Amino acid sequence: MQDTAMLQDEILRLKDRKNAIILAHNYQRPEIQDIADITGDSLELARAAAAMDGEVIVFCGVDFMAETAAILSPEKTVLLPAQDACCPMAGMISAAELRFARTRHPDAAVVCYVNTTADVKAESDICCTSANAVSVINAVRENAVIFVPDRNLGQYATRFTKKTILPWEGFCLVHDRFSVSDVAIAKQAHPDAAVLVHPECRPDVIDLADHVASTSGIVRYVKSGPGNEFIIGTEIGIMHRLAKECPGKRYFPLSEKAVCVNMKKTTLVHVRDALVTFHPVITVPEEIAARARSSIERMLVL
Ligand code: 13P
Ligand code: SF4
Repeated sequence: MQDTAMLQDEILRLKDRKNAIILAHNYQRPEIQDIADITGDSLELARAAAAMDGEVIVFCGVDFMAETAAILSPEKTVLLPAQDACCPMAGMISAAELRFARTRHPDAAVVCYVNTTADVKAESDICCTSANAVSVINAVRENAVIFVPDRNLGQYATRFTKKTILPWEGFCLVHDRFSVSDVAIAKQAHPDAAVLVHPECRPDVIDLADHVASTSGIVRYVKSGPGNEFIIGTEIGIMHRLAKECPGKRYFPLSEKAVCVNMKKTTLVHVRDALVTFHPVITVPEEIAARARSSIERMLVL
């Protein structure tokens, strides 16, 4: 096992030499977050990928995030250090299934969560993330919205819109597992702690939350909101950022089992090797990328 600090130094030197930037999602391992130029939620990372200088983006996250970066910055080399890091929810809908759903609801707009393949984004009218799903849904002209693939996020949005939402039946394996009894147990152990959850959680869990937000939204709430103790209802990788950026407060995971195995696939060795070999590169065929780009850019201008 190579020393963590040595590997981090090597990566930072390689990064400068190769004019690369490192983007890391909030669920990445602590040692990866610590060497990233930006650690953030899907929306912040998509914006960063579109705006950043540099020739190479090392995307420490899962495949749809690297694909989004490749779509927005086709002139850059986008590396996904752990080639098999995927989001199972993104695999819960295909482009063909979405085309069929459109034929069933021809008057509905299609809003796709960013946790989708490029093919599905290409078939959608507009993309959204957990940070902006409600405003995106409210911004489309149509009164009905086919929302894919996360049923829980789609259901959550119904609380803030008059539009008819037709949610797909996808879900996140990590967030969908949080239960009402997890909240009861955590609250019993920490009665003064506020419950903060991600909108990928089930509706009955969301009903019990004090605040619902994207991963970075949770960090912002802890930084600026009331209280000193928080029960965190999302993947446990976020705990590192919370402890680092708000060290005076106390955090308790809603469940210790909330681990996204795909987000944890990326190691420092993968990052170093990706920078040495420029592999694995993520590319999206331009015919698909052009249509997917429109749906992502419509979101980014909102
Ligand atoms: P955020 O966009 O809130 O970071 O969420 C991404 C994700 O995959 C949640 O499971
Ligand atoms: Fe996908 Fe859930 Fe992992 Fe996020 S936490 S990448 S939605 S499986």
